[in-house]
Amino acid sequence: MTILERERLWVLQGERSAYALGLNDEGDLVHTYWGARLPYADDYPAAPSGSGWASFNGPGQTLAEEYPAWAGLKYIEPCLKATFADGVRDVVLRFERAQIEDDTLTLALRDAVYPLAVTPLSRRPAEHVLIARGVVTRKGGQTPTPLERVGSARWHVPAALARRLSHLTGRWADEWHLGRVPLARGVTRLESRRLTTGHHQHPWFALDDGHADEDSGQIWFGALAYSGSWALTAELTDFGHTRVSLGVNDWDFGWQLDPGTTFTTPICVGGWVGAGFGAASRALHDYTRDNVLPHRGARHRVLYNSWEATTFDVNEAGQAALAEIAASLGVELFVMDDGWFKGRTWDNAGLGDWTPDRVKFPNGLTPLIERVNALGMDFGLWIEPEMVNPDSDLYCANPDWVIHFPTRERTTARNQLILNLARTDVQDYLIDHFDHLLRDHKITFIKWDMNRNVSEPGWPDAPADARELWMRYVEGVYRVWGTLRSRHPQVIWQSCSGGGGRADLGILRYADQVWISDNTDPIARLGIQEGYSQIYPAVTMEAWVTDMNLGGAPLPLDFRFHVSMSGVLGIGADVRHWSEAERAAAARWVALYKAIRPLIQYGDQYRLLPAQGRDYSALQYMAKDKGEGVLFAYCTQMRGRAMGDAPYPTIRLRGLLPDARYTVEGIGGVRSGDAWARIGFTLPLGDLESAVRRIQRVE
Ligand code: DGJ
Repeated sequence: MTILERERLWVLQGERSAYALGLNDEGDLVHTYWGARLPYADDYPAAPSGSGWASFNGPGQTLAEEYPAWAGLKYIEPCLKATFADGVRDVVLRFERAQIEDDTLTLALRDAVYPLAVTPLSRRPAEHVLIARGVVTRKGGQTPTPLERVGSARWHVPAALARRLSHLTGRWADEWHLGRVPLARGVTRLESRRLTTGHHQHPWFALDDGHADEDSGQIWFGALAYSGSWALTAELTDFGHTRVSLGVNDWDFGWQLDPGTTFTTPICVGGWVGAGFGAASRALHDYTRDNVLPHRGARHRVLYNSWEATTFDVNEAGQAALAEIAASLGVELFVMDDGWFKGRTWDNAGLGDWTPDRVKFPNGLTPLIERVNALGMDFGLWIEPEMVNPDSDLYCANPDWVIHFPTRERTTARNQLILNLARTDVQDYLIDHFDHLLRDHKITFIKWDMNRNVSEPGWPDAPADARELWMRYVEGVYRVWGTLRSRHPQVIWQSCSGGGGRADLGILRYADQVWISDNTDPIARLGIQEGYSQIYPAVTMEAWVTDMNLGGAPLPLDFRFHVSMSGVLGIGADVRHWSEAERAAAARWVALYKAIRPLIQYGDQYRLLPAQGRDYSALQYMAKDKGEGVLFAYCTQMRGRAMGDAPYPTIRLRGLLPDARYTVEGIGGVRSGDAWARIGFTLPLGDLESAVRRIQRVE
């Protein structure tokens, strides 16, 4: 990536894409281009002057402003809204200077009258995607400036080319549904008001002209790296412009910007590809693996998790028995889930008291950990640090540590309340406590859970505006997590919030993996995993083989393994009930997974035949050097195929070198990459049958 500077025009140029913005004659900072890289620097358009439309729309309404504040005749969604001490409520931003340093373009803006600066408004180009963030600073004066909205970025997409919005929605145990809807005139708003990212909507968008598919078409996409309440607005204006904003949610938002202080927004990433939704996902996968994840390049171990087998009924002997079977299957990491700490026999007690339960573990956790290690496995543990049950020692000692309004009843959900992590004393307590837990035990994996959303969002002793809770809580979570990470670098962390309630590019700076749904039914899981793959790479997606089948008896074991093997394989079934034959089959699949996991965790992913809403799907991973790959195919229902009235879909491989020659396991012949891609082949599968086939390049 390079940054070109022409007179009053800046172009962020990648190998294939480019983004341009400039200053017009009136001094407005205007977006001018986002799309394919153009041959010459002079090709990029200069910033146009704004033109109004009758008396009802001033230039601010029609210009593609890079970071609009609410002022004048602007009725569009602004990025910035504030109130000055004298009651003036519009912000008139003037360009001050641009600065290019290494790979960052910093643009400094300043209010025409008041000492408020938006500086830097930076766009840092990476290989595939752009990174944007806004920073607002109160320069001088004596009085604070309340901020009411501060967006991270505004993305402008060329008129007429961005008329369809792809987004992800869901609910608990039913996350990651991909929707594609035509953009209506006006504002489409997606958001979370829950204090976390949420299961329900996702801070991500993809825009296309309505005709793109997995392999073709221009896609403009973006995502917010933030784990709290967020908002996305996609506005199709009366003048046919499409503008997308992402940032911290301004719902119940408040921030007192004191003189000499700075407010920094979360990062927002955006990108353009010319080759369909698959290419957009791969760009985000690469970006996440190369720039976001804390343990870059880590090869994730096959784990066993106790939750679905034992729920809260854990004890030393029972977990050791599970561990023995897990080890015989080839599992590398044994994770004890909920139920291990003081008083935790059900979900109504114990959260907050993070010491091993004396009845279940009379000699603490060490004997179990040593047993697990002796079996050749690492040990991992479940925690839920942000939560407290009213029935706990911690709550009895510190009832004011929870988020609450003093005169209101404290609404529990799953019998728990939320500790106020905006408070530094609460953060310090958690850091100290979990630091000791990790120091005193040989633990190499932590699953960090969070099982409710906020209610009564009060902070009685808040030093300033109590609504700062929304952001300061998230900063508190990041501080606790980041401190523990830096003190215990050997630990791999998993983010869970009742499944996929806190999955985002913000938490992935702290968590290496995500537990993406509590729904482990393999048929449901096909769609859930596919939705998640729109943004996040498979290396972050923990996927257990369990006995769950929402429709009745467990599905064939091979099918269950094949679904989970397309992510980071884990086992969460009650393996005590698996037959010898099932255990032998499981051991074979675990061994195969270990051989192919570099492809799945670090290769390129292709959704060959999408799963959501279909009964036959196929997914491919290809090594970056294109020498090797693996294909997964799943048939959930055969319908009329046996009668010959609905042929099996043709599988056309992707990502192969066109002239190189390849074999596909179980399919005869050596063919060129081009032939596998153009002619393809069929893979007949019956009801609930699936296949894993390796792809090899031959000389
Ligand atoms: C919700 C998680 O998603 C489950 O996997 C499990 O860890 C339970 N919490 C434990 O309470």
